[in-house]
Amino acid sequence: MSALSFEILATDANGYARRGRMQLAHGVVETPVFMPVGTQATVKSMTPADLTDDIKADIILGNTYHLMLRPGADLVEKMGGLHRFMGWERPILTDSGGFQVWSLGELRKIEEHGVRFRSHIDGAEVFLGPKESMEIQRKLGSDIVMAFDECTPYPATYAEAEESMQMSMRWAGECREHLPVNETQALFGIVQGGMYPELRIKSLQALSAIDFEGIAIGGLSVGEPKEEMMAMLDALAPHLPVDKPHYVMGVGTPDDLIEGIDRGIDMFDCVMPTRNARNGTLFTDDGKLNIKNLCHAEDPRPIMHDCDCYTCRNFSRAYLRHLYMAKEILSSRLNTLHNLHYYCTLMQRARDAIAEENWPAFRHQFLQRYRGKA
Ligand code: GUN
Ligand code: ZN
Repeated sequence: MSALSFEILATDANGYARRGRMQLAHGVVETPVFMPVGTQATVKSMTPADLTDDIKADIILGNTYHLMLRPGADLVEKMGGLHRFMGWERPILTDSGGFQVWSLGELRKIEEHGVRFRSHIDGAEVFLGPKESMEIQRKLGSDIVMAFDECTPYPATYAEAEESMQMSMRWAGECREHLPVNETQALFGIVQGGMYPELRIKSLQALSAIDFEGIAIGGLSVGEPKEEMMAMLDALAPHLPVDKPHYVMGVGTPDDLIEGIDRGIDMFDCVMPTRNARNGTLFTDDGKLNIKNLCHAEDPRPIMHDCDCYTCRNFSRAYLRHLYMAKEILSSRLNTLHNLHYYCTLMQRARDAIAEENWPAFRHQFLQRYRGKA
């Protein structure tokens, strides 16, 4: 028994889209999947019951960086691990901290064995590298552990992107040494290489030699135009190992997810549905809707007439607008419920379309309508 087994159930006949099933220590994940982000051991404003019963999330994401600073990995371990600590019994993926440290900008200094930085909470000096990240993620007890990497900034010259990628590949090797294959935690490697297809493919080859349970693509959605991100996924698609799950980190909008699936991606995570919900932006098949707008003030309709989330079954746009304008905390909760339900249901619709050999038509119709051309 290994920590991860992955089975492909159906593949689009003319492309890369696939429908699969991943078995992890804490349960089964149907792919393609969207993973709600739970940075601080909570998906903001959602209870685990909301996530399982209404949203039907199979897996959520946690963050090494935030949890190591507060409340600390030792405390989480003492409390029985991240699953027990937050009352979530299904699979968890933890990001390694590389990306979050990178986001600190001036507060960090990169060294050969990791990154020295100042805590955004109390300014204390902290060091995080491949070894430290693996130890922390082991204590957290996540089902999927991410390798410690550097997210190459955008834009970067070829030489900068190459140097950064090679450091991430050395770190990837160190991660595998510190987290040998075991029965409860799977380790994913992360492809880097900036916006250079040649470097991306080299990175993928370096990861293949190390042997990870899954392959992630990092360093995307960092300010580059959308066409560039899609061109990068196009370049990688023929080279990704067919028998392993493929994860694009930090992506994206509903149309990005559909375009990612079309390029062979199985897993996604993004703060967009949760963060936007709190700002009053709601996702629908007809694109984004801003609940603040005056046009919703007297609208008795739900956000989406064919959405069966708790919010759409019970509340009007007029009520949701009122909650938002009055800055009521229920606004965040109801909006987040809808957005996460929308994202997870979109993945269910994609899985069904692939299984029913209807993927190209589903993709075309979805994109036309979402982008306002239908
Ligand atoms: N989340 C979004 N992009 C990245 C990345 O490049 N690396 C890591 N570790 N996490 C990410
Ligand atoms: Zn809804």
